[in-house]
Amino acid sequence: MKKQWWHGKIAYQIYPRSFQDSNGDGIGDLKGITSRLDYLKALGIDLIWLSPVYVSPGVDNGYDIADYRNIDPKFGTMEDFDELLKGVHARGMQLIMDLVVNHCSSQHPLFKKALADPEGPEAACFYFVKGKNGLPPDNLRSYFGGSVWEKVPGRDNLFYLHYFAKEQPDFNWNCKALRDRVCAMMNWWLDEKGIDGFRIDAIMNVAKDPAFPGLPPDALGDGTCSAAAMTAKMACKAPLILKDLRDRTYGPRGAFTVGEAFGLNPQVLPDICGDDGCFSSVFDFTVRENLEKKPGYYACEKPDAAFWRRGTLKGQALYADVGFPAVITENHDEPRAVSFYLRKDLEGPQGAKCLAAAFMMLRGIPFIYQGQELGMTKTEFADQSEFRDLVAFTEYEKCLSRGMTKAQALERVSLHTRDQSRTPMLWDDSDTAGFTTGTPWIRLHQDHRTLNVKKELADPGSVLCFYKKLIALRKDPQYSECLTWGRTLALDCKNEACMAYVRQSAKQRILVCANFSDKPCALAAQGEILLKTGETALENGALTAAPGAAAVVLLS
Ligand code: GLC
Ligand code: CA
Repeated sequence: MKKQWWHGKIAYQIYPRSFQDSNGDGIGDLKGITSRLDYLKALGIDLIWLSPVYVSPGVDNGYDIADYRNIDPKFGTMEDFDELLKGVHARGMQLIMDLVVNHCSSQHPLFKKALADPEGPEAACFYFVKGKNGLPPDNLRSYFGGSVWEKVPGRDNLFYLHYFAKEQPDFNWNCKALRDRVCAMMNWWLDEKGIDGFRIDAIMNVAKDPAFPGLPPDALGDGTCSAAAMTAKMACKAPLILKDLRDRTYGPRGAFTVGEAFGLNPQVLPDICGDDGCFSSVFDFTVRENLEKKPGYYACEKPDAAFWRRGTLKGQALYADVGFPAVITENHDEPRAVSFYLRKDLEGPQGAKCLAAAFMMLRGIPFIYQGQELGMTKTEFADQSEFRDLVAFTEYEKCLSRGMTKAQALERVSLHTRDQSRTPMLWDDSDTAGFTTGTPWIRLHQDHRTLNVKKELADPGSVLCFYKKLIALRKDPQYSECLTWGRTLALDCKNEACMAYVRQSAKQRILVCANFSDKPCALAAQGEILLKTGETALENGALTAAPGAAAVVLLS
């Protein structure tokens, strides 16, 4: 594998709606982000991924784009964007934008024209397909629930395709005119605006079987099959489309790209993220894909640390000889990892630090999600009306239809909902946590008086300060070669809930041990502790870690 300039970087995801509001309307915005750049720089961040800020009706919080070349007024203006990018570059950081091109918004002018004339040239950029006697062309189920097909108003037997919400019509990537449009738009952002790359949304979905044969029904039991299964089945077709995209845009410009690529398999992986892959990197979603084997929130109980450990180490092995993955434990679609994966008594700063150590030393480019560095835990949603994500509502109904009580449904949706990661960033101990002077668009985390940036910056033992130390360690020239490119060798500590691995380069071996169990754990080791949290000891040839403790050890 070739070494790349971005391999040693630390990335941070900003969900603009929830990061920092500057004008009191309760919605985070670009000016707000610009005002917090010093915070990110001081944390040690090199690369910022900005979730969508383009013009959007906001059905899926910006992942439904109506105008790809303008900023949505709720986030500010193009001048505000230019200011932000200037500020990022002035601090020696880089900015990648979210590229959502599997689909657009039903309010995009191209789709509006297509819908008005489904036989016209614009319609060729989407999938308008005849049904079967008024029924949808196939049995695929949208990621957000219900059929992937929506009837064209005024037509008896014509449908358009949407893998996500019906307000997110899928583009037809076999259409040359569509590809030309997307490439021109991407090059405009790269060349005219000067951004540094893209995080590419839901991208494996672009490969579709134009015969729309459907698939055998899955575990949901209503005769439908998730679109995810079709995407996985079509995975080997995606590189044909995506290498063309690469060669016409970011490839020759040397820009960084990270794909949100679900449904990968070992055969296709080299084409997706190898030296000649479609993208610089892809997120390792092994843990998430294991969760999504269940057909809905109702069928998925709280996972545990052993589940996270197994998936994470499997992901490390999967990419070891192929590419350099982007690693995550949280993002805007994930619940807060501390609450989701850890035992109740580790659901606090100690557990957060332990998880941080296990995560930040992995092989790959770490993407920290806003608030993760504070050790943010689960927000207590008091009532269904406090949810904002469209998926929360459909999953809530699904829970009820499976016989759960309202209280059970609330609890189950609260556990999984994407809203968990979307509650406002906690800056200080004021009434609205320094996020806004108005009313936040979504409720605040209940612990904002005690869990916030201001408090953690002042406390050297905080989760935030621990993240800073981990980042500094990764970048320390004495260890960075090993921590960046070293292989990950999984260790067995005879304890499912204890995560242990060695990063190994030609010159060094660095042991990482994080104990999420309720018993002490011990490993044979000799060397020097580089960083630790909780009660650990390195003596008589062994490293011991108390429950909730973690250590990074330079082995001798
Ligand atoms: C991706 C995004 C998610 C969005 C979906 C549709 O999975 O991360 O937030 O809802 O794509 O664009
Ligand atoms: Ca605002």
